[in-house]
Amino acid sequence: MEKREELYRGKAKTVYLTDDSDKLILHFRNDTSAFDGQKIEQLDRKGEVNNKFNHFIMTKLEDAGIATQVEALVSDTESLVKKLDMIPVECVVRNVAAGSLVRRLGVEEGLLLDPPVFEFFLKNDALHDPMVNDYHIVSFGWASEAQIAEMKALTFKVNAVLKALFDEAGMMLVDYKLEFGVDAAGNIVLGDEFTPDGCRLWDKETRKKMDKDRFRQGLGSVVETYIEVAERLGLAL
Ligand code: C5P
Repeated sequence: MEKREELYRGKAKTVYLTDDSDKLILHFRNDTSAFDGQKIEQLDRKGEVNNKFNHFIMTKLEDAGIATQVEALVSDTESLVKKLDMIPVECVVRNVAAGSLVRRLGVEEGLLLDPPVFEFFLKNDALHDPMVNDYHIVSFGWASEAQIAEMKALTFKVNAVLKALFDEAGMMLVDYKLEFGVDAAGNIVLGDEFTPDGCRLWDKETRKKMDKDRFRQGLGSVVETYIEVAERLGLAL
């Protein structure tokens, strides 16, 4: 597999073409951003930690029967993935109130949400990723009703798998964001990443924050804590 030119540079990852037109390389950089890119720092080893963490989680999801984009680790900071036509919405599930839900609805952080809350956000930095609903998505042609139903079902299937995985390792999966795309055969496939950059994880006993809120809130030990999460899951980094 040969890496070719850069296709897209996001805030934390760069996507490269390869000599296989169906495959891409995701390069996880050390860049860490928050607040729509207003706060950006380079955190030593974060690219490597997130690349390996993402591969570990995506493999668990594949084992549970969820189709993901990930094919293989190709270096410490790079993964080979299937090329997808990405759907420009973020699927967020919340098991516990935190973050923008707390700010928007004035509920207390830590409130258990049963059943969990599902929200869609449009991927658009200039508009600050506004919340959208099913009607916006269908009306603007971002996805069909059937694709919306599939994204919701898969996002909740991921919740069942990962809530149990983190729970067994002493952590609460508070919330997370997923992105999906469509493969060459027209199937909805989980893309992008699942790392502590895109979810909230709290220690079950102490409620210590073990995710990107450490960076957002200036709590320190960001990558060290991501490594602790990985080690608790049995992934040595
Ligand atoms: O900010 P908010 O509370 O809406 O985020 C919900 C979840 O989605 C959090 O785990 C956050 O890290 C993740 N998220 C993300 N990328 C975004 C927006 C939210 O990974 N652009």
